[in-house]
Amino acid sequence: RIVYLNGAFLPEHEAHISIFDRGFLFGDGIYEVTAVLEGKLIDSALHMARLERSVREIGGHLPVSTDEIVAAEKRLIVENNIQEGLVYLQYTRGAEDRNFFYSDDLEPTLVMFTQAKTLEHVAAVEKGLKVKIVPDQRWERRDIKSVCLLPQVLAKRTAKAAGCDEAWMVEDGFITEGASSTAYIVTADGRIVTRGNSNAILPGCTRLAVLQLAEEAGLVVEERPFSVEEAISAQEACLTSASNFVVPITSIDGKPVGDGTPGPIFKRLRALYMENAR
Ligand code: PDD
Repeated sequence: RIVYLNGAFLPEHEAHISIFDRGFLFGDGIYEVTAVLEGKLIDSALHMARLERSVREIGGHLPVSTDEIVAAEKRLIVENNIQEGLVYLQYTRGAEDRNFFYSDDLEPTLVMFTQAKTLEHVAAVEKGLKVKIVPDQRWERRDIKSVCLLPQVLAKRTAKAAGCDEAWMVEDGFITEGASSTAYIVTADGRIVTRGNSNAILPGCTRLAVLQLAEEAGLVVEERPFSVEEAISAQEACLTSASNFVVPITSIDGKPVGDGTPGPIFKRLRALYMENAR
């Protein structure tokens, strides 16, 4: 596999990063995951806008323009012959001797690589995913797509131990989001409910695209927090992310959602998103 490291395109075994990289030592970095379908980047402009925002929020600077980043991602897709999968990008503040304070002239580290993965025809679309409810143990700036993912790793570990596929994180009785996805429920009268953007969640790029498509299609969207009880008794539930697009949730904490099968609003959202992606 060819990967990108600070302007160079290299075989993966030739791409080396310092053990003093602040991403490694402090989790001082930002990442993005963008889907690839039929060799094309999906929602690329949204991911680049969020990357710029995250980097700005930590007082960093991108070493190259987002146009150059997108060109590099496209080159990786071609060189690695990716039809369907993901492009991972990681920015860190750079490498120097360990010190919480960083030098102002530090050169950032920028890495990109591709992962081949089936995204469209996956079993989850027919079967649905199982979700486990866990406490949200993250910090108060979840709007920044930071590489500090230990709370999410532990949340997924708990979910897996319970035989589930994803964790929905809870704060003050309300769902914030999935460990790596945006959370939605559908009410008995067909309204799509998802939490509004704030520092409490990551502003999902797929979320933005899906909500716009839903509204254009005349579906009713309600941006507000929803409780664990409301989720468990919802008509439908689903999640969105770059690595899943839109997938249904058929069980929450071992209880079936609705009749336990993917519902019509989910199917509509998935169809709208996939149609728009091509
Ligand atoms: N995760 N919320 C969290 C906490 C996430 O980590 C993600 C994405 C999302 C969905 O965002 P988007 O639609 O822009 O992918 C919501 C990526 C896929 C990951 O960590 O692999």
